[in-house]
Amino acid sequence: MSLWSKHAIFEKNAIVLIIGVLIVISIGGLVEIVPLFYLKSTIERVSGVRPYTPLELAGRNIYVREGCYNCHSQMIRPLRDEVERYGHYSLAAESMYDRPFQWGSKRTGPDLARVGGKYSDEWHRDHLNAPKSVVLGTVMPAYPWLARTELDFTHIADDLKVQSYLGVPYSPEMIANAAADLRAQAVSDSPDAEAVEKRYPNAQSRDYDGNPGTISEADALIAYLQMLGTQVNFKLYDNKANIR
Ligand code: HEC
Repeated sequence: MSLWSKHAIFEKNAIVLIIGVLIVISIGGLVEIVPLFYLKSTIERVSGVRPYTPLELAGRNIYVREGCYNCHSQMIRPLRDEVERYGHYSLAAESMYDRPFQWGSKRTGPDLARVGGKYSDEWHRDHLNAPKSVVLGTVMPAYPWLARTELDFTHIADDLKVQSYLGVPYSPEMIANAAADLRAQAVSDSPDAEAVEKRYPNAQSRDYDGNPGTISEADALIAYLQMLGTQVNFKLYDNKANIR
């Protein structure tokens, strides 16, 4: 029996054929995919992109908890209509610290990748509380409990620690100060705001929910929304002066 006639074994037995196909595809897949995990150029490093502050991370957790991703994407594709509507197309680096990523595949509402700074905190407050009060006819549901619910951040240091296991560069100092940084970022005129900004460049500290007495879930979520898409300075990026 020549080597070629052994082919009949595959052609006459569906299970063997399936296993053979899987092996061949796996080899092809591994050859194509595995190098991406090791090539530095897969995610170009872009200056300005930093890990989320504890408050932003807590806000992001609420974003995931409430399922905002079911209606909102966070990835602007490099197509003309998207770039004209939402701004510069998303860079891989901009979601490099997103675990899990929030790219999304559904846009019942608009893309949120660059919503930071587009509206005031008050607008976000009203919008989360009662979307129809600011956008007539919107189908976005109301989230009135966010402003009423005190943010539970007893586990925020552990949150940072888990993210650091996954490769987000949170230093031991950031982890040790997680709760203090969260508190400092959620109030206006905190004496510790500078320390937060030193650890997390360009972090904005203020009372986001208009209720200085408590740190609410709305504080965290609005801090997260106001940061989205603001980390990279695209004037510099497009000059390519910004790439490390
Ligand atoms: C059922 C779908 C749906 C869900 C779920 C949803 N949204 Fe929306 N969202 C919309 C729609 C539609 C709009 C556009 C009209 C408007 O501004 O309300 C919108 C608009 C927005 C905007 C303004 C975007 C812009 O550029 O104008 C923000 C910010 C926002 N949503 C945040 C959130 C957050 C945060 C959550 C989760 C707590 C959420 N949305 C959940 C449908 C949704």
